[in-house]
Amino acid sequence: MNSSSKNRSRLVLGIETSCDETAAAVVTSDGVVLSDIIASQVDIHGRFGGIVPEIASRIHVESIVPIVEQSIEEAKVTLEDLSAVAVTQGPGLVGALVVGLSFAKALAFPMDLPLCGVNHIQAHLLAIFIRDKREEGAAAGRREKRPEFPFVGLVVSGGHTSLYLVRNPLDMELLGATRDDAAGEAFDKVAKLLGLPYPGGPVISRLAQKGNPEQFRFPRAMLPETPLDFSFSGLKTAVLQQVHRIRRKGVQIPVEDICASFEEAVVDVLVEKGLKAAVQYGVKDLVIAGGVSANRRLRSVAQERADRSNVRCHFPEMRYCTDNGAMVAYAGQFLLDAGMLLSPDADVYSRLAF
Ligand code: KG4
Ligand code: ZN
Repeated sequence: MNSSSKNRSRLVLGIETSCDETAAAVVTSDGVVLSDIIASQVDIHGRFGGIVPEIASRIHVESIVPIVEQSIEEAKVTLEDLSAVAVTQGPGLVGALVVGLSFAKALAFPMDLPLCGVNHIQAHLLAIFIRDKREEGAAAGRREKRPEFPFVGLVVSGGHTSLYLVRNPLDMELLGATRDDAAGEAFDKVAKLLGLPYPGGPVISRLAQKGNPEQFRFPRAMLPETPLDFSFSGLKTAVLQQVHRIRRKGVQIPVEDICASFEEAVVDVLVEKGLKAAVQYGVKDLVIAGGVSANRRLRSVAQERADRSNVRCHFPEMRYCTDNGAMVAYAGQFLLDAGMLLSPDADVYSRLAF
């Protein structure tokens, strides 16, 4: 074993290919990230205004070997140092997931390494516990700020907007979910209708900083009968109608104000429902994870309102909000502990059963 890894706890290699990022990372059982390599396909899909599944699969095939090699090299370990391989088994794009799972099987089984099939949503939530090796020294002070089980987890990504009661790393109960679009999908669709590039979240967030969030009052779907569910399709339609109205007047579209007002509506709903669930289930901690949790306005509004509700609100480090291999490796550690391993005939799944 390499000298830098000699004293470290068990190492797991994590592989993520559920969507448009080919990612691999080596993480210790304490959640210290030794390497975290991500090849994003954003530029390629951006040309088509969204993800093209067939292209995503093909690029994963090209990228996976160099990305995994780089993650091993950067961690300064060898394959023999690994205790297990963890791979995203679902949910996600089937063709993309198959690339990761097939590669992981081909790597793990000949070496007699245990193979763990990770739930991508669970991995997003567990990303709250991981930290970069460069921050290891500062970690002691941060550790006490970590959430305690059970906590409420809100996963907001391009494919999901769901609330969970997380009892332990492997036990999550679904409390509510979106009936139509996911929050990230709403960001992406609104960006598209405003003629902005894919992915919409980061670009809308940047433009929103210069806009007035009160210029337009877009709808907030609170769904009183199922208050922990979400709906964003009405909001997207309201933005579209507003844009049409302004266009008909022949005046310039106030893109920054629309972005700020749209972002405010999404943030309002997410924070309101996240806190409602925490209060209803009597938990002290709310974890917000997934790509949209990188949104700065969401982070600041959630923090502010959580303080007022006596709830502690937690976000993963910025780089672990969007898809990455580190969260997969860390989630794999718990499956390994529980002996929940994949057999050679394991398959991917596109949707969650819960
Ligand atoms: O978790 P993720 O990387 O992939 C999925 O599992 O879907 O999330 C990607 C989503 C995209 O819809 C993207 O527009 C959104 O996260 N996103 C953001 C921001 N950064 C990424 N949405 C709002 N604000 C951001 N700063
Ligand atoms: Zn994701």
